[in-house]
Amino acid sequence: MTTTTPPIAVGATRVEVADKAMINARADVNQLLPLKYQWAWDKYLAACNNHWMPTEVSMQADIALWRRPAGAKDGLTEDERLMLKRNLGFFATAESLVANNIVLAVYRQLSNPECRQYLLRQAFEEAVHTHTFQYICTSLGLDEGELFNMYREVPSIAAKDAWALKYTRHLTDGDFRTGTPEADTDFLRDLIAFYVVFEGMWFYTGFAQILVLGRRNKMVGIAEQYQYILRDESLHLNFGIDCINQIKLENPHLWTPAFQAEVRRMLTEACELEVAYGRATLPNGMLGLTAELCEQYMHFITDRRAEQLGLAPLFGETRNPFGWMSEVMDLKKEKNFFETRVIEYQSGGGLSWD
Ligand SMILES: [Fe+2]
Ligand SMILES: [Fe+2]
Repeated sequence: MTTTTPPIAVGATRVEVADKAMINARADVNQLLPLKYQWAWDKYLAACNNHWMPTEVSMQADIALWRRPAGAKDGLTEDERLMLKRNLGFFATAESLVANNIVLAVYRQLSNPECRQYLLRQAFEEAVHTHTFQYICTSLGLDEGELFNMYREVPSIAAKDAWALKYTRHLTDGDFRTGTPEADTDFLRDLIAFYVVFEGMWFYTGFAQILVLGRRNKMVGIAEQYQYILRDESLHLNFGIDCINQIKLENPHLWTPAFQAEVRRMLTEACELEVAYGRATLPNGMLGLTAELCEQYMHFITDRRAEQLGLAPLFGETRNPFGWMSEVMDLKKEKNFFETRVIEYQSGGGLSWD
């Protein structure tokens, strides 16, 4: 698939659904209709229904709590402050890494206009998420140098980002093209590393950590913003899984036993990196949340992702220790939970949070 813009072929045959494909398509990428992948269009519509902006969430209670000295009565503990900073430090740059992968790698290689329509929306949402961390950093008066450099200075965060970046590095090179089994497999690897691992596994420990604080009425503004991010990320993950499975369906020669074994190894490595991040973020635990529970949770999530890709479970973990998170995803039911200002956002359909 060439990523340069071809000249307009005047009088060329009209686009047929059968000519459309996820990768290496023959059909004109500028013609949205006729749709081939209704699931991609439906996710675009659901994402638009989920519109929100971080600045609509009040930070007053968070600012007051953050300013109280560590360990003070009604303040945050040292463990809670460490968790919060490392949590924000991971997300602050992770959102940009994901956005760059979409714009510089995924968009160029996905040759389907309805999928690209979703990607345009997702790219904006990643900008909103990065904006959220800028807004939190400024509101709380955090050290921006410390926050935005954690991906280079905190080993457990650097290890995760380095793992993911190697899958996008050569795809963001302008000369990369799908069209051979090797290149198509490289592209699938990138989709798995970013959609399944980065957005589908590594964001979830962080969501659980912040939402635990929110359930105790601590940092309620940030917790509310994380709810909206979680809702967006749930759609990103499900879009990615659909893309990967559709590419597999259209290109069964790529999904070899050797590649399946490699994907299982990728998921195992990613899980180990996340468990290490959980330990670095929660050395002593807080509010009943421990590194051990995060590990069990990540085993459960890893098995779920394997299943979504059509692979056998890696850990056999059937118990989700954070079952309460599925209730948090129901924003209409939970809208008063954090006792923050109620914002009536429309809820998108088909949200499978895990
Ligand atoms: Fe995001
Ligand atoms: Fe995302």
